[in-house]
This record gives sequence, structure tokens and C-alpha cells, in this order.
Amino acid sequence: MIVTTKKLFEIAYGKYAVGAYNINNLEQLMGLFRGNVDSKAPFIIQISKGARSYTHKLMLETMIQAADQIFPEAIFAVHLDHGDEQTCYDCINSGAYSSVMVDASHEEFEKNIEITRRVVEAAHAKGISVEAELGQLGGVEEHVKVSEADAKLTDPNQAREFVERTGVDALAVAIGTSHGAYKFSGTQGIRMDVLAEIQHEVPGFPLVMHGSSSVPQEEVKRINAAGGELKGAKGVDADLFKRAAELGVTKVNIDTDGRLVWTRVYREYFRDHPEVFDFRPIGKVFMEEYAKFIGEKNEKLGSAGQLDALHKILG
Ligand code: G3H
Ligand code: 13P
Ligand code: ZN
Repeated sequence: MIVTTKKLFEIAYGKYAVGAYNINNLEQLMGLFRGNVDSKAPFIIQISKGARSYTHKLMLETMIQAADQIFPEAIFAVHLDHGDEQTCYDCINSGAYSSVMVDASHEEFEKNIEITRRVVEAAHAKGISVEAELGQLGGVEEHVKVSEADAKLTDPNQAREFVERTGVDALAVAIGTSHGAYKFSGTQGIRMDVLAEIQHEVPGFPLVMHGSSSVPQEEVKRINAAGGELKGAKGVDADLFKRAAELGVTKVNIDTDGRLVWTRVYREYFRDHPEVFDFRPIGKVFMEEYAKFIGEKNEKLGSAGQLDALHKILG
């Protein structure tokens, strides 16, 4: 069942965070549904601009409709990740998305508000919810690299004005995390104090944590042992998610960790089975491992086990 992120956030606020997982292909999609249904968690499917153009934008939309039929018990939102204004309109008009993120965080405050407000008007007219970003994360996003020095933490003093003037449904905050597998390269760690200040300014309003992969060291070790070269990769402590949820985080974005599962599975499989050239056995292993990964992540987020209650609320 496809729902809006707004609906999910109303139910989850202050209690748990919903996992927002980026997908690009069929195997990820199947593993994602399997992992969430098995761990009984609501979830958010995230589609980036890069994911839309990987094959064709209609491909993922159509596969999601099929997955909805294959897994009738699943409750999820379909969300555009880091959209520019035009891509937001394209997704709003496609009928396949229940929410979009307009990311004008690189613009000045007034311009960010102006762009976000236009997208909110178009989205709300069709019952679609909107996430926007204030402050700027470091890391790599759509091939654009923002150094940690150029990243800007969200200013808590701007949060209320931004939320009120834009009419957004959720606010992505920059609190020291960054995209990709090399987080916290400087001295700065995650700023839970800034998160607490933001919640104080916009109490009860859903907040979003981007760049939240935990880059498990065991995963990195296995990838490197199978021929990979990920040196100095590190991520967010997943044990912080429940505290973040109490501080208003209702959506936690995870992409990199899923890529690491893919890299580990494929590297180890081809190292151990040099004679294999059939892609289905390895695809099956990946779907199972990805589902397991999703279930474990949902435990950390507190979203695991919430599905029955959601079905009762949503009818
Ligand atoms: O924030 C960026 C996401 O990890 C999506 O990455 O643009 O390479 O699909 P992508
Ligand atoms: P990670 O790179 O930490 O997985 O973050 C993903 C993200 O924020 C997608 O919007
Ligand atoms: Zn992001």
C-alpha cells in the first residue's frame, strides 16, 4: 500500500524513524520489500535522479507497482531523493510518487524558500508531500562533491521561519553527517546538540537525517579481503538512531550501506566461484543478503515490528 511520508511521520513521530532506502534495480527492490515485510516495518523507497536515468524513469515506477501486488502487506512511500525543481514537477505529474524532496539547499536562504514554496504548492495540489533541506551536507551527491569544509550545519534559528514560509512536510537537517562511505573525515562528529536545538525550534515537526549509512567495518573488511580498496571508510553509529527519533527524526536515509552489501556479495561470490557466469545464482544471494540487511537496519531504527499497528491505523 502506497502512502505519503506525511502519513508515516504522523504515526512515527517521537517513537521511531522510518528507513528511507535508495534503490536502482530489480534485485534491490525485491530484497527491500522482502526485508521490510519480514521485519514488519513501514519504509520509504527513495529514487534519485541518477536512479531514474539508470535505465528509464518508467522502469522503476512500474516495478514498484508490481512489487506492491507481490507484497500486499507492505506499507511504503515512494519518494524522489534530492530533486531539482523540474524533476520534482515531473515526479508530481507522473502519479507514481507519494512524496518528493526538493533540494535547493545550495541556494541562499530566500531563494531556497522561493523554490521550495513553488514545489510545495504543486505537490500539495495533488496530495503529495514534500521534504526540503536547510543547511548543506558534505560528500558526493549526483556526482557533485561538497567538501566537509564547505558543508554547512543547519542553523536552528532559521528552521521555524523556513518551515512556516515554505509549508513543507519534513525538513532535512545537516548535523555533521555526509553522503558516501567516508564520513567524519575532519574532527567534527554527529551534532546531536544541534538536532536538539532544531527540535526545540520546530517541536513536533518531522526531521530527516541524510547521510546516515553506518559503513559497517566488518563489511569494509570483507570487501577489501575480496579485492576491494576502501581505505578509511566510516559511517554513522546506528545506535544513535533511536535517540535521534526521540529528537524528531522520522526519516533516516540509507544508500551507501546497501551498495556495500552489493559489493561484498559480488566480490566474494566471483572470488569463490571463478567458473560461474550465470547471473541468477548470485542475484538470489544478493536479494537474500539485502533483505537481511534491511531487517537489521529496521531494528536499529525502531521501525521493525510496527506494521500490524500501522495496518490497524490505516485500515
Ligand atoms: O544522496 C545521494 C544518494 O546516495 C543517491 O546517490 O545520486 O548516486 O543515486 P545517486
Ligand atoms: P548515505 O550515503 O550515508 O547512505 O546517505 C544516503 C542519503 O542521504 C540519500 O539521500
Ligand atoms: Zn541525501
